[in-house]
Amino acid sequence: MKNNVGRGSQVWRNDRRHLLHPFAEFPQFNTTGSRIFTKADGIVVESDDGRKFIDGIGGLWCVNIGYGRQEMAEAIAEQASALPYYNTFTDMTSPPAANLAAKLAELAPGDINHVFFTCSGSAANDTAVRLAQYYFNRQGRPSKNKIVARENAYHGSTYLAASLTGIRPNHDGFHTLLEGPDPLIHHTTEPNMYRRPDGMNEEGYCDLLIRDLEKTISEVGADAIACFIAEPIIGAGGVKVAPKGYHGRAKEVCTQNDILYVSDEVVTSFGRLGHFFASEAVFNVLPDIITTAKGISSGYIPLGATLFSDEIFEVLSSPEIGGKPFSHGFTYSGHPVACAAGLKNIEIIESERLCEHVRSAGPYFEKRLGELRDLPIVGDTRGSHFMLAIEMVSNKKTKTCFESSVAVGKRIADHAYQQGVIARNVGDYIILSPPLTMSTAEIDEIVDVLKNAIEMTMDDFTREGIWQA
Ligand SMILES: Cc1ncc(COP(=O)(O)O)c(C=O)c1O
Repeated sequence: MKNNVGRGSQVWRNDRRHLLHPFAEFPQFNTTGSRIFTKADGIVVESDDGRKFIDGIGGLWCVNIGYGRQEMAEAIAEQASALPYYNTFTDMTSPPAANLAAKLAELAPGDINHVFFTCSGSAANDTAVRLAQYYFNRQGRPSKNKIVARENAYHGSTYLAASLTGIRPNHDGFHTLLEGPDPLIHHTTEPNMYRRPDGMNEEGYCDLLIRDLEKTISEVGADAIACFIAEPIIGAGGVKVAPKGYHGRAKEVCTQNDILYVSDEVVTSFGRLGHFFASEAVFNVLPDIITTAKGISSGYIPLGATLFSDEIFEVLSSPEIGGKPFSHGFTYSGHPVACAAGLKNIEIIESERLCEHVRSAGPYFEKRLGELRDLPIVGDTRGSHFMLAIEMVSNKKTKTCFESSVAVGKRIADHAYQQGVIARNVGDYIILSPPLTMSTAEIDEIVDVLKNAIEMTMDDFTREGIWQA
């Protein structure tokens, strides 16, 4: 390898010495360092040594329109030339911020007509919680301030969003808001169809989950809960699709208990499930608050948003109930360059009919991935449209997990990488969330490479005496 690219290059050394990576895994990182990417076009990313990879994960569930969009670069450059920044505090605005807010209100379901901009999904979720607490506080109910989230949900990495997150290993070593005699956040049971109790049908499982939610609410006390937060499909926690009817019923329970329903659509919005927003269009639930990020700008620039209902806005803004300053905001809320990118991104999704494409190619992707279930270590394939996962097990009958030390997911992802496909391993899961522009031929290529990668991993295991077919 030439010394100015790849492992050992100056960039590689700078990165290894000075950059703390999100979710760093030190023993491996200290030995191998980073893979360096320098270019991308369409669904393909290129490393600094000229190797090309199909990006099966859309950057990180976010590059929905694909890479190399000149129109995005131009929209960003034009706005940066005209007005690179102005704040949106109190009564300031810019055309991109106002117009993107209006466009989001048009795309969002029901009476969700108000938008607060952030720079990330974590900050959008923090904002949702603060908004829910503020809503009850301004109505004279300050003790209605707790949050119910779900086991294995992922909601982000700020102090609050990391505490909403129910993936226990993510809390390891950190302090969270789950601790103490009177914790702010409580987790209820996650929907996990693959590992539901033996012999239980979908309807019975849904009943069980709803009973668990009711139990959590009654234990914490409805009078102490401001909101319930749920991803329409659990993402980083293993791409878990809830049983049919779950979200609608969870919303009913929330309404009965005067609890706001927050739908975390950071991954599921902007076409990944074939609609701009999935809550109502796919899951038949009208939330009080929707959070989004990622696909809102297809990752070309950081942007997130918290969208909320007329009813919440009434309370915040009404002179009788509120009418006081809403003291929450970020320097970069409604950043004009990010909002200009958001508007162009929506224009591309609409004009290229990407939601329609996902609705037609998605079921094909699910079916092709489903064929991998014939492999002896594939326990489950699941998800929906362009948000999919494979779960590996050492015994399909008993659904036994592999020992974490054998790193089954990582081995598969590494073999796929060697064959030119980037897939993401999270524990024993392989996660796929590609750009929405992916064709059925490219879907075939991804699935074929993953099949090979799983077979190669089984061969490794047999050779190393870890597992036998
Ligand atoms: C469902 C969900 N919510 C929130 C977040 C946090 O978003 P961000 O990383 O932009 O803060 C993520 C990130 O993956 C996510 O998947």
